Amino acid sequence: MNARSRLKAALGWPLRRALDPRVAMTVHEIDARLGSDGLARPTVHDRIDDLDRMGRDMLAGLGWRDVPAPGGALEHLDASRAAYLNWASGPEGYASQAGVWFNPPVPVEHAAGVVRPLLVNERILEQPFVFGAVAGVPAGSRILDVGGSESTVGLSLATLGHDVTIVDPRPHPLAHPNVHHAACRLDELPEPATPFDAAVVLSAVEHFGLEHYGLDAIDERLDLAALAALRDLVRPGGLLVLTVPFGIAAVDDFQRVYDEDGLAELLDGWEVQTSLRAGRVDHLTWQLGVAPTPDQHGVALVTARRS
Ligand SMILES: C[S@@+](CC[C@H](N)C(=O)[O-])C[C@H]1O[C@@H](n2cnc3c(N)ncnc32)[C@H](O)[C@@H]1O
Repeated sequence: MNARSRLKAALGWPLRRALDPRVAMTVHEIDARLGSDGLARPTVHDRIDDLDRMGRDMLAGLGWRDVPAPGGALEHLDASRAAYLNWASGPEGYASQAGVWFNPPVPVEHAAGVVRPLLVNERILEQPFVFGAVAGVPAGSRILDVGGSESTVGLSLATLGHDVTIVDPRPHPLAHPNVHHAACRLDELPEPATPFDAAVVLSAVEHFGLEHYGLDAIDERLDLAALAALRDLVRPGGLLVLTVPFGIAAVDDFQRVYDEDGLAELLDGWEVQTSLRAGRVDHLTWQLGVAPTPDQHGVALVTARRS
């Protein structure tokens, strides 16, 4: 066994101990025979943990950055592992790269010895707003979820019995008998045989035609074109549920923020039924009716009907 294999074998020990019931049983058996289980003095488990920690500290001192062992007390979470966990669980991490990251309303932040809410994002009210709006739509309705990757909303609607088409050029990995994924931009969606009963556009259209999601920037207002196209894709009397960033009008490579005029332009031709505004009070708190500030945009929540 060369030095690298020995090192790997040593680092694999805590994993084997945690995962292999035979190893765990053997260690418990030794503790039982020594009579150390249940006593104040350290058990074999504790000694192995100490040795393991010492070994890892030595390796870290030598510049070896090992993968963290599973298990362990929160108080032993160190800053470098915390940074790794933040990256891995975030929008750039492995799950995201694999197309299986679902933007959580409350992402958490790891720091040395601490895990706390990083923030509460607008999904905290956008998602229930969508479910509330769609609650009045009969089961089995045809719903178009526009830009629905990175979200479980389409899957929830499908699981509630609706027939959901998710249109998004990015992968949507959650298969369900009631979910169809059209892996294209909305303007590329083939005309459906039957129009949709409802369209859900949750935090999506503000990105259309911009570069952020790996799509080419398009010199055209694809957001306005999308809402116009939905008027043909949704049946007369059908429902639109729309949420977008709201505040001082702005656009960058990532998204647009709409003011009242911009929102009215977006909803041209739709019969607006509900139109709410919400804003952040602080990084953990959103409230309806809170006005946006120059530094902090809020969100507009709209339901409308196709006349
Ligand atoms: C903020 S993300 C996901 C929003 C999602 N509805 C949610 O609830 O989290 C916006 C999505 O819009 C998609 N998108 C961008 N341009 C699009 C277009 N022209 N047609 C359809 N989807 C588009 C992106 O691929 C991205 O997945």
